[in-house]
Amino acid sequence: MKVTVSSLREMKSKGERVVMVAAYDYPTARILDACGVDSILVGDSVGNVLLGHKDTLGVTVDDIVHHLKAVSRGAERALVVGDMPFMSYQASDEDAIGNAGRLVKAGGAEAVKVEGGGMVVRRVRAIVEAGIPVMGHLGLTPQWYHQFGGFKVQGKTGSTARRLMEDAVKLERAGAFALVLECIPWQLAKLITEKIEIPTIGIGAGPYCDGQVMVLHDILGMSEKQLKFVKRYANLSEIISEAVTEFKKEVKSGKFPTLAQSFEMPREEMRRMLAEFRKRR
Ligand code: KIV
Repeated sequence: MKVTVSSLREMKSKGERVVMVAAYDYPTARILDACGVDSILVGDSVGNVLLGHKDTLGVTVDDIVHHLKAVSRGAERALVVGDMPFMSYQASDEDAIGNAGRLVKAGGAEAVKVEGGGMVVRRVRAIVEAGIPVMGHLGLTPQWYHQFGGFKVQGKTGSTARRLMEDAVKLERAGAFALVLECIPWQLAKLITEKIEIPTIGIGAGPYCDGQVMVLHDILGMSEKQLKFVKRYANLSEIISEAVTEFKKEVKSGKFPTLAQSFEMPREEMRRMLAEFRKRR
């Protein structure tokens, strides 16, 4: 059954955990969909994970649309969420609605994700009122890292934790259908999860959220850094490296390809071809 924004709410009410993975292309979207992942996020993490940027700030709406198109072709069941990149929603409600609309119309997103609380709550309300479902995102929101003074766990003090709790409630009231909580203490994540009715989806926010999200390349052991909140379920870097080294060895030594991987011309055509060549000489 197709996963929708309402299914995620129902999952929370039944106590069923939401599984979300950030991925950026057609083949992995097909695999994730077949595994029964509930939602695929085309995150702005595409900037650092796939495109080699040092952070997510340079990612554009065009980048997200490009990757969304591929993912939405591969995902039949999973809910496809498109990330709103830095400066695609901060300046005005018009920008926010226009860019969210592009992710849906051009990219095939079924919902969008927006980072931050405070003034962002207004933008969330505007996008929801325009008819586009919005996922909120609080805590260590990477687009705001200059303001945080680096990538630091958020909400570790009484006052910052209270502000995050208030933002969570405001985002729910503004119409967000779910909320990503990134790198906050597990005790705060638990309190927020108990307080709001929409599902919380944690990343570095402990075990008491309604669901978890992780970047596919982190799950597969393909990312450069191993962050504290990441658990690797495979070491694909090693597997890729072994396979390509073997390919290289076989090409260099002439072991690959053999005739088994080659195409053969019928004998009669071969004779004709040689006759043609002789005529031309
Ligand atoms: O961009 C991304 O992949 C994200 C998730 C890590 C939540 O925002």
